[in-house]
Amino acid sequence: MQFTPQLDSIFPFAEEIGKTTYQALQQVKGICSLAHKTASTELTKLATPPSPKPLNPLPQEMLFKIQKMNNDILETDWEDAQKGYYPHSVLFENDLPDVLVNYSQIWLDMPKIWQRLRDKKYQDFDQTIDREGYPSYYLQNFHHQTNGYLSDQSADLYDLQVEIVFNGSANAMRRRIIPPLKQGLEVFSDVAPQQTRILDIACGTGMALRNLRAAFPKASLFGTDLSPAYLRKANQILSAIPGTLPQLLQANAEELPYSDGYFHGTSCVFLFHELPPQARQAVINEAFRVTKPGGTFVICDSIQAFEYPDFEPIMENFPTMFHEPYYRHYVTDDLNERLETAGFDNIETQNHFMSKYWIARKPVG
Ligand SMILES: C[S@@+](CC[C@H](N)C(=O)[O-])C[C@H]1O[C@@H](n2cnc3c(N)ncnc32)[C@H](O)[C@@H]1O
Repeated sequence: MQFTPQLDSIFPFAEEIGKTTYQALQQVKGICSLAHKTASTELTKLATPPSPKPLNPLPQEMLFKIQKMNNDILETDWEDAQKGYYPHSVLFENDLPDVLVNYSQIWLDMPKIWQRLRDKKYQDFDQTIDREGYPSYYLQNFHHQTNGYLSDQSADLYDLQVEIVFNGSANAMRRRIIPPLKQGLEVFSDVAPQQTRILDIACGTGMALRNLRAAFPKASLFGTDLSPAYLRKANQILSAIPGTLPQLLQANAEELPYSDGYFHGTSCVFLFHELPPQARQAVINEAFRVTKPGGTFVICDSIQAFEYPDFEPIMENFPTMFHEPYYRHYVTDDLNERLETAGFDNIETQNHFMSKYWIARKPVG
C-alpha cells in the first residue's frame, strides 16, 4: 500500500484511512499480546515454585508512560513511511497463517519451560543439539527458549515471541534504524545503489533485513548470525521477497568474516543486551573494522537506566521473566564510551518505545 501524491489527490482520505487502519491493527496486536502475557504469567506462577526474586509490581504511571511510548513509535513509524524512508506496505506485512501455527506451538512448549524453571535449568539443550564451537555465553536458554537459539523450533517461534513481548511493535522498533542509516548513506551518493553494501550483525530470522530490503530495494544486503537454525529461517523469510537475496553467513559477531571497510552501513538489532561486557566491546570493534570510513553503524537495543531511572522495576523484572543473564549489566553499560573506544565519532542516541539507538560514524581518514 504505497500512498502517492496522485492517489492522495484522487482520494484525499486515503492517508487518514491507512494510518487509522495501521493503528487499529497494532491495537489488536497489543491487546492480544497483553492477554497472552497475562495468561502465561499466571499459569507459570501456578506451574512453578515461587521465584526467590518475586516480580516488582509496576506503578500505574509507568504503564501509562509505556503505552504512550508505544503510541508514539507507531506515529513515528507512520510518519517515516510518509517521508519515504520505506514504503507503507511494510507496516502492513503480516504472517497470519504462521502466527496461528506458531501460537499453538508456544503453548505446547510451555510445559517444557515450566519443567526447566522447576529444575532451575537455564543452559539446557537436547542431546541432539550440536553445541561445539559456540562461545559459552551463547549456550543459554535465552527467553527460556527450548534449545536456546539452536533449534528450528526456536527459530519458528522467535518472531512471534518477540512481537508478544513488545505488544506487536517489534518491527516498528527495528525500523527506527532505517532513517539514520539512510541519512548516513547520503555521504556515499556517488555509489550506485546496487554497489551499496549494508550488513546486519546478528540478523536472527532476518526481520531487520526484511525491513532494510523494503527501504533499500537495490542495495547489497548481508546478514550474519551464530545460529544455523535462525539463518535457515531468515533464508526462508527473505527468499520469499522479490529481488536480490541478502547474503547470509554463519559467524560470530566478534570475528566478522569480511575485509576492513567493506560496508557502507552496518546495523545490529537486539544483540547487545545478550552479550557479556567484553563481547559487547569486541562486536563494536568488529563493526568499526568492517564499516567503511565515512560509513554509519546503527545499534537498536533495550532502553537503559541512564534515560529511564524510573523504569528500574521493569528493568529488574525483564531478566527474571525472560532469562537474560547479561541484561542487568547492559542497562548501565556506557555504549557511547565503547563506540568511542573502537574509533567511532559523532555518536548520537535516540530513544523510542522500550528501545535505545546509537548512531555512530566511522571517521574518514
Ligand atoms: C535477540 S536475537 C536478535 C535477532 C535479530 N537481530 C532481531 O532483530 O530479532 C539475538 C540474536 O543474536 C545472535 N547472537 C548472539 N550472540 C551472537 C554472536 N556472538 N555472534 C553472532 N550472533 C549472535 C543470536 O543467535 C540471535 O539470533
